[in-house]
Amino acid sequence: MASSVSDRKKIHLLDLCCGKSYLTFAAHWYFTAVLGKETITVGVDLKRDVIETCTRIAEKLGMKGLSFKCENVSLYSPDFVPDMVISLHACDIATDYVLASAVKLGAKIILSTPCCQHQLSSDMKGDALAYISRYPILRQKFASVATDALRALILEIRGYSVTVCEFTDPEETPKNIMIRAVKSGRSGQVSEKISIYQDAKKDTRRNPFS
Ligand SMILES: C[S@@+](CC[C@H](N)C(=O)[O-])C[C@H]1O[C@@H](n2cnc3c(N)ncnc32)[C@H](O)[C@@H]1O
Repeated sequence: MASSVSDRKKIHLLDLCCGKSYLTFAAHWYFTAVLGKETITVGVDLKRDVIETCTRIAEKLGMKGLSFKCENVSLYSPDFVPDMVISLHACDIATDYVLASAVKLGAKIILSTPCCQHQLSSDMKGDALAYISRYPILRQKFASVATDALRALILEIRGYSVTVCEFTDPEETPKNIMIRAVKSGRSGQVSEKISIYQDAKKDTRRNPFS
């Protein structure tokens, strides 16, 4: 954990696209019961029934500081700056909405595990990538990798120090890539990175933060 967060007594945590919220409950428990921190955690998802169920479970378990909101993550605006935004398997461009919101809200740490990166696959054009895109399975795999690389790059442009790693054994789930971004406020070689991003877009027509 970044030292700016681990040193704090009170933590503000957001789980965007929380769904059934297994991760939200586990993360809140970890920060409160294991690390002993006062923790405010909000899980956000579009599905009303799921949010109502999670709210009931949190109340039943007496999990202080844990709540859920039925909202679009792009519109959600908490009354705090999140120390950490987490997001597990927000499908396709929902991950882009999550990352854009996290940046907009000024999250200090972002942990995002994307899945189902379809959009770029359907958008891919350009002769430069034709030798890949003519094979559907390679097109899909390339699109996933390129999507996450562009996400990482734009987070760097926005002042985050970014690593991309496998968060669990691929045998557990193939959707095991995690984008880990820590706000540094420094974004070196911005113009160079913007050029790389724009060049990549020429072949992909993709702009997750537009
Ligand atoms: C595959 S589920 C993952 C749920 C949970 N994080 C998990 O790992 O079990 C993706 C979730 O993203 C939610 N979602 C998609 N777009 C959203 C948006 N714009 N705002 C809020 N939630 C969204 C869906 O309702 C769905 O519950």
